[in-house]
Amino acid sequence: MILFVDTANFDEISEAASWGFVKGVTTNPSLIAKENLTQKEIITKITKLIDGPISAEVTVNGYDNMLKQAKELFSIDPKHIVIKLPMTIDGLRTCKKLHELKIPTNVTLCFSESQALIAMENNATYLSPFLGRLDDIGQNSIELIEKIMCIKKQYNYDTKIICASIRNANHIVKCALTGADIATVPFKVLKGMVNHSLTDIGLKQFDEAIEKTAKLAKK
Ligand code: G3P
Repeated sequence: MILFVDTANFDEISEAASWGFVKGVTTNPSLIAKENLTQKEIITKITKLIDGPISAEVTVNGYDNMLKQAKELFSIDPKHIVIKLPMTIDGLRTCKKLHELKIPTNVTLCFSESQALIAMENNATYLSPFLGRLDDIGQNSIELIEKIMCIKKQYNYDTKIICASIRNANHIVKCALTGADIATVPFKVLKGMVNHSLTDIGLKQFDEAIEKTAKLAKK
């Protein structure tokens, strides 16, 4: 499973990029607003920090405006920029047009199988169903991912599924078991994936053994 980091924070992206298992970045207007710079400044800097897909979301309404802004964002770095589009009719129209222009897209704010189907039908490069926000309202987010993966396979859609709004490592593992392509994960959750209490106990035991052996070498 491919892992992306879901942040616009430069320190988090630099550190995550150094780990090896983080292959891309997704941003959204809420994440951008935390950083006190313009979207263009932030996205431009991110392209210098990681060599992978970087989702930059359109912030305007209407097909013509979305298309114009998508082209501007894409021109920042055509090798890495993916245009994030909302799950609206204008977003889907823009998605179709960008596909014709060979500009990659990520259709976001997906909460249902029917939304997923029409985004895949409009050739979204990536589709982002949200897990955490569905769980928050008492719905089964993993069941949604399973059904989207089933529809994708049934019709051989090329769209890659990015599991988003991830809250914990369990979300990631359950998504991986469905065969979902990608998970975009908050920095803290990604970093926490390495932890296990038995790993800590094992490391402590090994450290004690290393110290004992080192004392023998000094004799
Ligand atoms: O970037 C989209 C998504 O991952 C947002 O997550 O935590 O705001 O529901 P969250």
